[in-house]
Amino acid sequence: MAKNLIVYYSRKGENYFGGSIRSVPKGNTEYVAEYIAEAVGGELFEIETVEEYPKDYMACTDVAKTELREKARPELRRYMDSLEGYDNIFFCGPCWWGTYPMAIFSFIDRLDWSGKRIFAVMTHEGSGMGSSERDLEKACKGAKLVDSLAISGSQAQSSKKRVSDWALKCTE
Ligand SMILES: Cc1cc2nc3c(=O)[nH]c(=O)nc-3n(C[C@H](O)[C@H](O)[C@H](O)COP(=O)(O)O)c2cc1C
Repeated sequence: MAKNLIVYYSRKGENYFGGSIRSVPKGNTEYVAEYIAEAVGGELFEIETVEEYPKDYMACTDVAKTELREKARPELRRYMDSLEGYDNIFFCGPCWWGTYPMAIFSFIDRLDWSGKRIFAVMTHEGSGMGSSERDLEKACKGAKLVDSLAISGSQAQSSKKRVSDWALKCTE
């Protein structure tokens, strides 16, 4: 049976929900990552940066914009040494300025992706997948992007069935 790894980044704190700012103890993408793990089994790996992003929404968008422009690779609290034993890797992340947060690429850059099947999952407030699929394919050299799923961030928590059905189908 194929072995799954579900890698996610998700930010707690202030975020936009349908036009207004609210502070949340758990990020949108974290729900989606957990639904995938529950549906298909496998291990969850949370990407956490050494330096936390501002809880304030606007301040965070500024930091994220600079990181994207500079193609930054923020330092992570922990990395994986190898992907040995894993067949399917799901990347779950929020859309930040049209792609994944740079921290996801800090994780990717250290690993050998040849022969892996990868899946792109993005929560967003209107941009859908943005350029995340292209960016992922470029970064994960030798991997095959099998499928992707865009979920509206404000509906992430209530999207368990949609996410589970998708994850089960694309790993059949
Ligand atoms: C720094 C930052 C940049 C964002 N940029 C975009 C964007 O370009 N397009 C979009 O649709 N949503 C954007 N959003 C909204 C998030 O993608 C959305 O709220 C997501 O569900 C947050 O996931 P999280 O709670 O797991 O971090 C941005 C949010 C932040 C904090």
